[in-house]
Amino acid sequence: MPEPRSADDRFIAAAFAAVDAGTFVKLVLGGPTGPGPHRYDLRPIAMRTGDKWAAVATTGKTQTQTNLEPASFGAWLADRLGEFRNGDLLTTEMTLHRTSVDGRSSLRRGPAQGGAPAPRAHDRAPQRRADLRNQPWAETMGLVQGGRPSAGHADKLRQIERLVELFDHAIAKREGPLTVLDLGCGRGLLTAALADHLARTRGEGSRVIGVEREPERTAAAAALGLPGLQFVTDLIAAADLPAADVVLALHACDTATDDALAAGIRSGAKTLFVSPCCHRELRPQLHAEGAIGDALRHGILADRQAEWVTDALRAQLLASAGFDVSVIEMVRSEHTPRNVLLVGHRDDNVDREAATVAARELARRFGVANQALAGHLGVTL
Ligand SMILES: C[S@@+](CC[C@H](N)C(=O)[O-])C[C@H]1O[C@@H](n2cnc3c(N)ncnc32)[C@H](O)[C@@H]1O
Repeated sequence: MPEPRSADDRFIAAAFAAVDAGTFVKLVLGGPTGPGPHRYDLRPIAMRTGDKWAAVATTGKTQTQTNLEPASFGAWLADRLGEFRNGDLLTTEMTLHRTSVDGRSSLRRGPAQGGAPAPRAHDRAPQRRADLRNQPWAETMGLVQGGRPSAGHADKLRQIERLVELFDHAIAKREGPLTVLDLGCGRGLLTAALADHLARTRGEGSRVIGVEREPERTAAAAALGLPGLQFVTDLIAAADLPAADVVLALHACDTATDDALAAGIRSGAKTLFVSPCCHRELRPQLHAEGAIGDALRHGILADRQAEWVTDALRAQLLASAGFDVSVIEMVRSEHTPRNVLLVGHRDDNVDREAATVAARELARRFGVANQALAGHLGVTL
């Protein structure tokens, strides 16, 4: 095999070699050169779906984990190295310190700093998966059968499992019973999963309230009688909802996502999870100057641009309301093309004014005058 050329290539190759040799302890990136996460902790993990690399991004006080395919991890890491000045690869045999100054990287090898090789078993997710898949309510609702996804439900199950994982991570440091809202909850599968999960992991006292405008959709889940599980029949924007700790909305249609974000902000929730769908509101407003405007003549490109601009605007508007926001992949796109997830954590350190300015700039560039979340927040675009 030819010798990797650059220091960054050698750094990446050394990480893969350590994993292969079973000597990998940890890999940390720090010293960001721009906005975005200020640190990445990277480690290999084994999941039921195969080996992955877990990338935990730390932004402010927020940590977000993304699991990456080994085949794409090298390219992903090469991109990230371009965004960080420092990298430390710790193995049981050495420390490899990578520094980048003015875009030129160099490596320095040092002695091992101790630490056990990283275990390759995924610590918590398989357990939760097994938990969810073996619950009688999930069988009653037709989500699983004999511990496996029912026909036609594998993708929905994966989305729910992922949200329960992220939810669990978000509440890890919070004590006591919680109030959770699932807005635009449809049949209430996620709602039931969260209620059941909280009851099993925290005991009684928590409640999970699903809000849905069509009562027949929630009837079966309401009849489960799970502790803490409640449903409200109403429009999200009109419902009288209690203060909440966490608010979720999974594929609430079009501007119902904005209603959910606004309700989440009003509820005082510390954490919001929203995966949007059917981005119709901005599509007729979109226009842009020059080459971008020209590209928007193509319907499918305009559709995709509308999705991107809508969610980018939502992220800035959420920041303008005092949330530290990450936009991440909820699940791989084969499980749903609607796989963007906005995660917001309330954070006093967010520069709300700068986010409002950025939202206005984005709206101006794409000719957007009205957007539902901006309306809810009283932000003039
Ligand atoms: C695509 S389904 C998603 C359901 C569920 N969250 C899931 O992912 O399985 C969207 C649901 O949101 C409900 N919905 C849409 N707009 C709503 C609104 N403004 N208020 C309450 N429910 C709404 C619809 O009736 C539908 O059941």
